[in-house]
Order: sequence, then structure tokens, then C-alpha cells
Amino acid sequence: MRTYIWTLPTRIFHWMLVLYILFMFITSEEENLLDYHAAFGYGVLVLILFRLLWGVMGPRYSRFSQWPLSLEEAIGFMRSLPNPQKYYPGHNPAASFVMLGIILVILLSVLSGVFTYGIQEGRGLFSWLNSTFFKEMELFEEIHEFFSTLLLLLITAHLGGVAADRIMHKESGTLYSIFGGYKQIDAPPAKLTGVQKAVAWLFLLSALVVPFYLLLSDTPLTQSRYSAVHYEKEHQLFVEECASCHTLYAPYLLPKRSWKKLMANLADHFGDDASLDETDRRSVEAYLLANSAESSTKEAAHYILNSVKNIKKDIIAISESPYWRDKHASLDKALFDSPKVKSKANCKACHRRFENGIIEDALISLPKGV
Ligand code: HEC
Ligand code: HEC
Repeated sequence: MRTYIWTLPTRIFHWMLVLYILFMFITSEEENLLDYHAAFGYGVLVLILFRLLWGVMGPRYSRFSQWPLSLEEAIGFMRSLPNPQKYYPGHNPAASFVMLGIILVILLSVLSGVFTYGIQEGRGLFSWLNSTFFKEMELFEEIHEFFSTLLLLLITAHLGGVAADRIMHKESGTLYSIFGGYKQIDAPPAKLTGVQKAVAWLFLLSALVVPFYLLLSDTPLTQSRYSAVHYEKEHQLFVEECASCHTLYAPYLLPKRSWKKLMANLADHFGDDASLDETDRRSVEAYLLANSAESSTKEAAHYILNSVKNIKKDIIAISESPYWRDKHASLDKALFDSPKVKSKANCKACHRRFENGIIEDALISLPKGV
């Protein structure tokens, strides 16, 4: 007998979640896709909140209270897998556990993601934690990665379960039920009330709109705690003297000892003479030291500082730091010599708003036509 098991909202939720999660894994690969990653991460959160609510007030088979969440039953089910004693119209006991795991792990992934976004990037709801926890930014990123790995395992388990069902119980049509909603099984059908319909469409529509809204506007969910620095207002001489030959390098990009060394030998500055009279030199040096990497909670400052900490030699070029080299190692060397870039020291060629002290993943773009 053909029975309606998965109602339309449940199925739309499922396929939206599939698409969004796939998109989350793709956008986690590239730094400059972080804005998309964050925006759709909030979309995933809306989907998960919907699913939790649906688990309480949704139709038959979607409600958590209907799931056979008993370890004993799950073990019994797995043992008698080819010929189970009982058929489950909704999720079987093993699948129930996997589904619950997927929902919880996604929720934890989103939460750890929002924390990482706040602490590492100084953005979103937890941007205020950036100054307190920036030394722990790697830890939060690792927790976030741990949950996404766990999610991959659960998804694999889910697909394995579907495959096993397809091989052993092809007749029940479980695989097709997530497309059409029907299974070949004798059971009472799932039905939707008006309230359920209204709630479902409200949430599903929000899950669709929220990511695009976040991408197109500035909201507390994505806002950076760092605003553009106008260095010429902060220290005019610094800009006049240090941005006349090249990009303006924000003071937070090098540690104190690098700035001291650099400022001590301006007469032979990368082969150029950049010398200043002593009063000016002291003034610029004082500004650089007061705003060096040590006094910043920005991601780049933190990583540059960590990467040069154990190096004996005093580095005076940001592009000589192991962190910089590591971050740019994947780029074609020829890119740096191309007419539009000319030198690896020309940071602003690829980092928009660099001269305002902003290094944002979303603002990285390689010059066109090189
Ligand atoms: C007369 C020109 C000139 C002036 C003035 C000058 N620089 Fe430079 N600077 C250079 C050159 C040339 C390089 C090497 C650029 C390259 O590798 O392409 C350089 C490189 C640098 C780098 C290393 C960039 C990297 O690769 O990470 C830093 C940092 C730097 N300068 C800081 C300063 C500061 C601070 C001042 C102001 C006190 C200053 N510069 C003034 C010419 C100048
Ligand atoms: C030819 C283009 C190019 C130039 C020039 C360039 N960068 Fe980058 N930079 C990139 C790209 C692309 C990435 C992202 C790499 C990745 O996938 O992680 C990046 C990443 C970074 C990051 C890490 C960003 C993050 O949030 O993880 C920092 C910091 C950085 N660059 C600083 C600099 C500085 C400082 C300079 C100049 C001394 C510079 N870059 C010059 C292209 C460039």
C-alpha cells in the first residue's frame, strides 16, 4: 500500500539542507569565500531551528516522539537487518540515531563557527570576544573543524544506511520517499494542519532569504568590529614618508623588534635610501612601536607574531615571515612579477582596502588578466 510519510516541508527542508551543507564544505576551502560561508551558515541555522521545532510540532513521522530512539531496538534492528522483525514507516531505530546526530552536530558546527568568526575575524555576534580570546583562535577553529568532520562521518553513515536499505528492502521505496513522500508500506499517512503549513513556509522562506540578505547588507550577524583606519589622520608623517615608494604597511603587521631594526637603518632600506631626519625618524618609530603586532588582536598580527617568534634572524619584511610565505605559497610566482602586481610587497594589488589596515578574506582578489 502506498502511504504518505514525508510531507512537502520535510522534503524541502531535507534538500535545502543537502544543498546548503554542500555549499558550506565548498566555501570552507577558500579564504575569500568566507562571507558566503558565514551567510549560508546562518541559513543552515534557520533550517536546523525549523527542524527542531518540526520535531516537536510537526506531522507524524517527523516528530521526535515518534522516532524509535531506543538503543536496544537499534541493536536488535541491526542484528536482524536482512529480515527485520518490524517495519518502520518513518525512520528505523538506526536511522533515528543518525538523524538526531546530524541535527545536533550541525547545530554545534554552526555555534562553533559563529564563535570562530567572532574570535578569529572579529566579526558577527561574538566579535566582542576577539580581544579576549584571540590567542585561542586556532583552538576554536579546530573545534569547528572537528564538528564538520564528525558531520561528514554521520552523512556517510546516512548514505550507507540508504544504500543498505535500497539493497535489502528495495520494495519499501525508502529512497524515493525523500523525493515523492510516499513509501510502500501499510501505515497511517502523515497529514499537515494549517498551523504546521504556516510555520513551515515561514521558516523555509527565511532560510532562503536570510543568506542573501546577510550578503547584501551590513548586520550585527556579520559586521566587523574593525573599521577602516585613516592613517593620514593618525600620523601624517608616517603616511607621507612610508607610503611614498610603496604600499602603506599597517604597523600591526610586524613585531616591535622588526620595526626597531627597520627604522635603525633607513639609509639602506631594501637597497633604497629612505632616511629621515632624526626627529621625524623617532616620531615614526614611536608610532610603529605603539601599534605593532604585539598590541593588535587582528588575525594577521597574531599569526605573523607567532610565526616569527622562534626565528633568530630579525625579519624586517612581512613577506619574509613564515606565515606570509605559507599563506601565499599556493600562488603562482609569476603573478608577483606580473605588470599589475610587480612585487610581492605590493599587497594592495590583491588586498582591497589594505591601506586602511583591513585584511579581510572577502576582500582578496587577484588582478584580472594576469
Ligand atoms: C625611497 C623609497 C622608500 C621609502 C621612502 C620607504 N621604503 Fe620601504 N621599501 C622600499 C623598497 C624598494 C622596498 C622593497 C620592496 C619590494 O620588495 O618590492 C621596501 C620594503 C619595505 C617593507 C617590506 C615589505 C615586504 O616585503 O613585506 C617594509 C615593511 C617597509 N618597506 C617599510 C617602510 C617604512 C616603515 C617606511 C617609512 C619609514 C618606508 N618603508 C619607506 C622603499 C622605500
Ligand atoms: C598577488 C596577490 C597578492 C599579493 C601581492 C599579496 N597577497 Fe596576501 N593573499 C593573497 C591571496 C590570494 C591570499 C589567500 C590565500 C589563501 O587561499 O589562503 C592572501 C592571504 C593573505 C593573508 C591571510 C589572510 C587571512 O585572513 O587568512 C594575509 C595576512 C596577507 N595575505 C597579507 C599580505 C601582505 C601583508 C602582503 C604584502 C606584503 C600581501 N598579502 C600580498 C594574495 C596576495
